[in-house]
Amino acid sequence: MADNTTMEKIVALCKRRGFIFQSSEIYGGIGGFWDYGPLGVELKRNIKEAWWRDMVAGHDDTQAPPNAPSAYAMVGLDTSIIMHPQVWKASGHYDQFYDLFVDCRTCKARFRADQLGEYPCPRKPSRRAGEGEDCDLTEPREFNLMFKTYVGALIDPTAEAYLRPETAQGIFVNFKNVLSTTRVKIPFGIAQIGKSFRNEITPRNFTFRSREFEQMEIEFFCSPEESEDWYSYWRDRRLDWYTSLGLRSDNLRLREHEPAERAHYSCGTADIEYAFPFLPEGEFGELEGVSHRGDFDLRSHMEGKLIRDGDELVVELDEEGKPRYPGSGKDLSYFDEATKRKFIPHVIEPSAGADRTALAFLCEAYDEDAIPDEKGTLQERVVLRLHPRIAPIKVAVFPLVKKDGMPEIAASIYRELKKRWNVFYDEKGSIGRRYRRQDESGTPFCITVDSQTLADDTVTLRDRDTTKQERVRIDDLDGVIGERLTAN
Ligand code: GAP
Repeated sequence: MADNTTMEKIVALCKRRGFIFQSSEIYGGIGGFWDYGPLGVELKRNIKEAWWRDMVAGHDDTQAPPNAPSAYAMVGLDTSIIMHPQVWKASGHYDQFYDLFVDCRTCKARFRADQLGEYPCPRKPSRRAGEGEDCDLTEPREFNLMFKTYVGALIDPTAEAYLRPETAQGIFVNFKNVLSTTRVKIPFGIAQIGKSFRNEITPRNFTFRSREFEQMEIEFFCSPEESEDWYSYWRDRRLDWYTSLGLRSDNLRLREHEPAERAHYSCGTADIEYAFPFLPEGEFGELEGVSHRGDFDLRSHMEGKLIRDGDELVVELDEEGKPRYPGSGKDLSYFDEATKRKFIPHVIEPSAGADRTALAFLCEAYDEDAIPDEKGTLQERVVLRLHPRIAPIKVAVFPLVKKDGMPEIAASIYRELKKRWNVFYDEKGSIGRRYRRQDESGTPFCITVDSQTLADDTVTLRDRDTTKQERVRIDDLDGVIGERLTAN
């Protein structure tokens, strides 16, 4: 990340190059919703694919990864966005998933109660919400973050349903289905990538806090005795994942929550945080939460909504002494063949946001420098130093000029490389400008067909970060690029 990286520059680049657009922009936009453009969709797909490969498809069930307490299995799921409304009642989201907000009666603006000191009042002169003499704030009130909808033709309370605010619950309610169909044994993880929706009071900071976003979640089921070891393993494993894809470790930190800060289900949470440029120097924002959820979720879906009574979790009862929000009544416990013991598994949950991850990678990759053009004059450039695994376009192919058969050779190289990677062909504009356009898009390599190609079948291969060029035989391109894309 360049020292002078600002959110304004990131947002402008995203718009200019087609990474991210405001949703419904031609109608003035809609707060908290974003569209990924041609480059953005590739970036986000690459992030999700890297996560799926590293956590699920490429995971070796037969041996313990470094620092893991033991070997474990990992399987995937893709569950529905709208689920039975009882899911959200038993899980606690129906009556506990809210933020506190305050309204200003004078300017009609709405603020999150916990962020009053952080955001300005919309009126001039600029000041913090509540600081003006005529600011007239209401008492904090609760606002449930779940989007409500109706299933079927009737718009009445019996048809009410919710867009999921997390992908996790789809995993918990399928716990028994996975156990009986895959024969996995504890410890094992179930992973899911999918959209979640939260009617955030104050969506802000570009895609950081959106109302529609994607999560990449793992629910890792283990025995209560081993749960602390697995909690520790997943915190480190997930932190390492971000550095392996290019986030600098001094821009990242792992922060353990204070007990009072934890969500209702958590008996331990650590956030993986990133120094986003919209934050003051030295401050970090949540990228991923790793939580020790104990047996909260499976128990809730068995017995009904749980509340804390001192150190105990007990089923919340109504005035008649019945569960206020009953669970399914199904047995979601696990029978361990080895120890002949039956227990409710504990859960460790690494829960990441694909959009926040994409934003962090964009911020980290953003850089500005100056490079000589064809005439040796220094030209300022913006370069996205994205890790090759997540770069939207891997290689761009150019003919130096549009004559002498160069476009035909370049097009045939393009077609050949496109069989393996996302490759871009461009014959318009000066070669320097074409390079700089790819630098801004984060493309790690550019190939140019020039007059020497016609004599010896070699092309130039240019590296985005060093801007160094070397000659490579056309026949060797596939191997050389393949090696460099997977080098680290
Ligand atoms: N299942 C646990 C859970 O959902 P969370 O901390 O509320 O935990 C996990 O969310 C991750 O989802 C966050 O670390 C963040 O990356 C992403 N996320 C949550 N709310 C978001 C929002 N409004 N906009 C974008 N990403 C969000």
